[in-house]
Amino acid sequence: MCGIVGYVGTRQAAPEVYRGLLRLEYRGYDSVGLAVLNGSSLGVVRKKGKVDAVREEIGGMIGTIGIGHTRWATHGAPSERNAHPLRSGKFAIVHNGIIENYRALREELEANGFVFSSDTDSETIAHLFALYDRGDLRETLRAVVRRLEVSFAIAALCEGAPNVIAAARRNSPLIVGRGETGYYLASDIPALAGCVQTVTVLKNGDMALVCADRVQIFDDRGEVRRQEQVCSLRAETLERGDNAHFMLKEMKETPQTIRNTISNFAERVRLEPFLPLFRKLKKIHLIGCGTAYHSGLAGKLAIERLARVPAEACIASEYRYGDPILGDDTLAIAVSQSGETADTIAAAQLDRESGTPLFVVTNVAHSSMASLADLVVPTIAGAETAVAATKSYNGQLTALYLLAAAIAAARGADAKRAEEELNRYPERCEEALSRLEEVERVAQKFKDAKNVCFLGRGVDHAAALEGSLKLKEIAYIPSEGYPAGELKHGPIALIDGRSLVVAIMTQRRLAEKTFNAVAEVRARGAKIFLITPFEEYARREGVDDCFLLPKCGELFSPVLSVIPLQALAYYTAVARGNDPDRPRNLAKSVTVE
Ligand code: AGP
Repeated sequence: MCGIVGYVGTRQAAPEVYRGLLRLEYRGYDSVGLAVLNGSSLGVVRKKGKVDAVREEIGGMIGTIGIGHTRWATHGAPSERNAHPLRSGKFAIVHNGIIENYRALREELEANGFVFSSDTDSETIAHLFALYDRGDLRETLRAVVRRLEVSFAIAALCEGAPNVIAAARRNSPLIVGRGETGYYLASDIPALAGCVQTVTVLKNGDMALVCADRVQIFDDRGEVRRQEQVCSLRAETLERGDNAHFMLKEMKETPQTIRNTISNFAERVRLEPFLPLFRKLKKIHLIGCGTAYHSGLAGKLAIERLARVPAEACIASEYRYGDPILGDDTLAIAVSQSGETADTIAAAQLDRESGTPLFVVTNVAHSSMASLADLVVPTIAGAETAVAATKSYNGQLTALYLLAAAIAAARGADAKRAEEELNRYPERCEEALSRLEEVERVAQKFKDAKNVCFLGRGVDHAAALEGSLKLKEIAYIPSEGYPAGELKHGPIALIDGRSLVVAIMTQRRLAEKTFNAVAEVRARGAKIFLITPFEEYARREGVDDCFLLPKCGELFSPVLSVIPLQALAYYTAVARGNDPDRPRNLAKSVTVE
């Protein structure tokens, strides 16, 4: 949530910062702003809306040192007034995170004569810089950071220090990149791809003074060294090419994500030290938010079926304030594309503090969550830019299925067949992806549905929840995912002639049972879109449209059945004139509570 960028070097800063902001737009697009320092004069541009709102202005911003911000509003409405950079005296700052003690700080600062010109928590940071300014930027930064609770990544410019960006982080990510013409700062590595040779991931509590030719990193105790790594991310992989949207491009990258996740797991994930743990396990918690929680639901079913260990999928924001039963015979698996989701990090911290072994399934190996883990299980999906998670979900499922098979094998079960079955999914997904125009036609037909109900049992229910989330977040149509047998206990009251019911049916033994629910909603006027590998059901009376899945096994089918569901959401959003990559009110990486 919110993206920040900085540049100091020999080039004009504004275009460098602007390019980075475009890449960080997935973190929020309520407002945008840049500050550039020209000698001792600060130029600031701020606008409501997406990053390209400032495109025309950047040519006029002269100076080789600058910072920028793309916002997802927490405190204060999305408006120019609340856009960053925020100023106080000689200082301009950008901030990602939430200053939880901002009310007390604001009162104190107002008592000291500071006048607030925004409704943000972040403005307190700018005024704190001005309050503690004694002419030594390093000392000012330390004094400011000591006052801030609790989550922040900040970058600041000072008119008295024309060659340096002051930066700091706690519980929000910040990366320093070294390029040929200078140094960069960003909330995430993709913002820097193509511009830098190396990246350094700052740790919690780190502060930095970033100049054109060097960076000094320190914490409360003094100077620290952080590992500088080669940045191998290629800028071309972040382009959407011929695809109309990133979401479509990313859906098409699903087969490769599954293949890469499987091969990386075999080659790089070292499970030997955990085999004794696998043997004694009494319980597994799978923790995540949104799509990652839905992966956990499907993962739970695979773990229970293959490894016969009781497993529970947990919503991170509930788990962290609940009273979960933890211990060294429980395994916690935190699932997160970004590895920066605040609630999931807090849940993972709870596990760590209680001595519960913690695995993290993530797409970002250098993320804050990964740094907490006893074992990181990477999903190799590559950068995911669209706010709606697609290929990363398939990657998470793959990683969880591989873990389920590994735990099963350690406990003496035969997991070979399951692994072989998983290897067949990339091809099946390719086949499904080659027929997306079938889903496009369905989306056109039902784009004005009043509500959409996704039905399924077991693994199909897990997929139904994900299909419903996708549709809500980008098509803005009220929708729910329900276990097929549960509908008649209340939700069927919502069904009428303007409802669409999407039924997912991949398990032969449950097909007829699920079809009973289809018949019930059909009798009440709903239109039916069936997703199944069973051809005979496609021809059943009452089915308006059917997407015939390639033949597949039952346990891992969400990897495949989610493809037409993601496509339905995508094409419905497009048909309704929405931007599927940047849906309203959302940001991809939810780094605040
Ligand atoms: C998915 O389409 C959503 N954008 C959202 O639910 C997301 O999955 C959730 O915020 C968790 O993010 P994470 O995987 O980065 O932790």
